Amino acid sequence: MKDLLSSADFAGKCVFVAGGSSGINLGIAERFAEQGAKVALCSRSPDRVAAAVETLKGHGGEAMGMAADVRHYDEVAAALKAAAEAFGPIDVLISGAAGNFVAPALGMSANAFKTVVDIDLLGTFNVFRAGYGHLSRPGASLIAISAPQALHAYAFQAHVCAAKAGIDMLVRTLAVEWGPDGIRVNSIIPGPIEDTEGMARLAPTPEARQRAIDGVPLRRYGTKSEIGDAALFLSSPMAAYITGAQLPVDGGATLSGAGRMGEAMELAFKEAKAAR
Ligand code: NAP
Ligand code: COA
Repeated sequence: MKDLLSSADFAGKCVFVAGGSSGINLGIAERFAEQGAKVALCSRSPDRVAAAVETLKGHGGEAMGMAADVRHYDEVAAALKAAAEAFGPIDVLISGAAGNFVAPALGMSANAFKTVVDIDLLGTFNVFRAGYGHLSRPGASLIAISAPQALHAYAFQAHVCAAKAGIDMLVRTLAVEWGPDGIRVNSIIPGPIEDTEGMARLAPTPEARQRAIDGVPLRRYGTKSEIGDAALFLSSPMAAYITGAQLPVDGGATLSGAGRMGEAMELAFKEAKAAR
């Protein structure tokens, strides 16, 4: 076990995080930076990218960032190419960009639905498809950031449920296609995570937050670094035989179905409606 732990060495490894300028994805990037990895990231806003790169450099290692919208293949491809040219073949590729808002299916236009599917699902295809040619082979670890919406149907989340379920099936498909190349593809399903834009949108009031916590068997929100730890594990030799898996890191939240979290979102929707 001691040997296995010491072999989980990310010093000098190249890690790319799509959607890495904030929240859970930045938390993951920070965990790899703390381990001595060279971390590249992209997201739409140049200012947020620049701020995140400074945060990562604060951990003492090399970091770089590019503005790129994951909906646009050419932008993602350019960012991945720049990262591989600067830092070498990509050892860990994370796809975490996402969009969310709380709305009933009848309250979202076709473009609203498409916008989230394009960011989450098409974006993950673009990141992995464009990243393939730059991966360390064999050995690369690809991780998509999924969500409980991939497993349970939630009212007011038709776009996210469809997109995240699609991501998990894409992950399984790529695990089958790319396994023979020594590439592992997995997803992490975070539960409700503290201090994130996602939970600010899904459970914006103290009442909604409490409903969300009541739905977690461990009775608390998770932390960004707990998701980062799961990404480190999945990218380490300790997970060498794990591919095509959906790993919930959620305090058990996905075991209790759509109940409490669904109530939290219902409250969020009612509050938003009342505020209009
Ligand atoms: P967040 O801080 O809003 O993170 C989303 C990131 O994606 C931002 O850095 C954003 O930066 C980037 N992004 C958005 N659209 C993009 C696009 N079209 N192209 C490139 N980058 C884009 O939210 P979060 O709550 O931490 O969520 C992060 C991930 O965790 C998401 O995949 C989410 O579904 C998942 N998740 C979150 C929770 C939670 O509790 N928060 C639970 C389960 C799953 P720019 O604005 O600069 O583009
Ligand atoms: N209810 C219903 N429709 C909504 C909506 C809401 N609350 N918010 C946006 N939309 C619709 C818009 O009206 C538009 O549809 P239309 O053209 O038919 O009017 C469509 O969604 C796209 O909106 P737009 O603002 O042009 O998209 P964008 O690409 O600039 O931003 C979002 C994407 C909407 C997902 C935005 O919230 C975002 O950038 N999110 C990233 C951060 C985030 O969501 N973090 C949490 C991750 S879990």
